[in-house]
Amino acid sequence: MGKAVRFSRYGGPDVLDVVEVDEPVPGRGEVVVAVETAAINPGEIGIREGVFADLWPAQFPEGQGNDYAGVIHAVGAEVNGFRPGDQVMGFAPRAAQAEFVRTKPERLARKPPELDWAPAAVIPGVGATAYAEVEALDLSQTETLVVSAGAGGVGSIAVQLARRRGATVLATGSRNSFDFLTSLGAVPVEYGDGLADRIRAATSKPVTAYLDHIGRGNVAAALTLGVAPSRINTLADGAAVTRHGVRAVGQAEADFPSVWEYLARLAATGEIAFPINAVYALEDVRVAYTRLAERHTHGKIVLAVGKMVRPTAP
Ligand SMILES: NC(=O)c1ccc[n+]([C@@H]2O[C@H](COP(=O)([O-])OP(=O)(O)OC[C@H]3O[C@@H](n4cnc5c(N)ncnc54)[C@H](OP(=O)(O)O)[C@@H]3O)[C@@H](O)[C@H]2O)c1
Repeated sequence: MGKAVRFSRYGGPDVLDVVEVDEPVPGRGEVVVAVETAAINPGEIGIREGVFADLWPAQFPEGQGNDYAGVIHAVGAEVNGFRPGDQVMGFAPRAAQAEFVRTKPERLARKPPELDWAPAAVIPGVGATAYAEVEALDLSQTETLVVSAGAGGVGSIAVQLARRRGATVLATGSRNSFDFLTSLGAVPVEYGDGLADRIRAATSKPVTAYLDHIGRGNVAAALTLGVAPSRINTLADGAAVTRHGVRAVGQAEADFPSVWEYLARLAATGEIAFPINAVYALEDVRVAYTRLAERHTHGKIVLAVGKMVRPTAP
């Protein structure tokens, strides 16, 4: 048996339970991973609350979580390239918050041994997402980019990837996030009414690109600043995509183990950081999502599933 997060009706965090399920057995061409760490993401809140029930209905009892890191536990027939004990990162839709994940080797990348378990878990999720949106903009050194919610899970990585391309980066956050945003290499700008004016005041250069992670008027601010719709990407404002023809490039466009391995190498060598805000025990999954739903996280919240990772959150 192994523990897994399940929910059997739509609702708030209190519908989440950690239950015992049968340990999976790998079929032909499959492996089973013993999970060490699993990420939690805002999109999972919408799925669990039933907001996306028409698009992506749950099949109760439903599992939860996508991106994770762990150790190969068992290998099925006709699997080459992975052996028990190998450290890996993966993306297993609605299945990652569990002690064991059954998956195809093609959905795994190797985790560098020197990379900690918590950042490894978030690379296939927010890492790939930030990589996809920054690559989509193909930023040059002469450009000035605004990143909304720059202190959050996706934003904190997007800021660093854009800085690696040499772009000037402004990032929005509350005053509580200013030191963190500065440490990532961004010029902090406070969000809220009058945002476009504050962005103009914060830079002498024209803003040429905009990555939105929170909605709430950011696409309007980008258009007010004169950014072309093709240089605006939003992960949080579907209406703006329809209305203004802005882009919505996300995780699916970089859902490749080669991308995860690239980002893991950058993290392992210290070229970018995957900031971890807190590590909660799997049993505290309800508390972890309650905290995430406040939407004031710096970096990521991660669940400790295996025995190699100690929770840091109370
Ligand atoms: N399509 C995809 O492939 C994909 C993949 C991943 C995520 N997403 C989506 O991307 C979005 C961002 O996800 P995330 O994980 O980065 O979120 P997150 O970590 O929860 O974002 C938290 C951050 O948002 C900031 N924030 C809160 N209110 C704000 C406001 N009004 N203006 C600007 N910033 C504000 C907070 O800064 P302060 O603490 O300073 O307030 C905090 O640092 C979500 O909508 C998520 O569902 C999409």
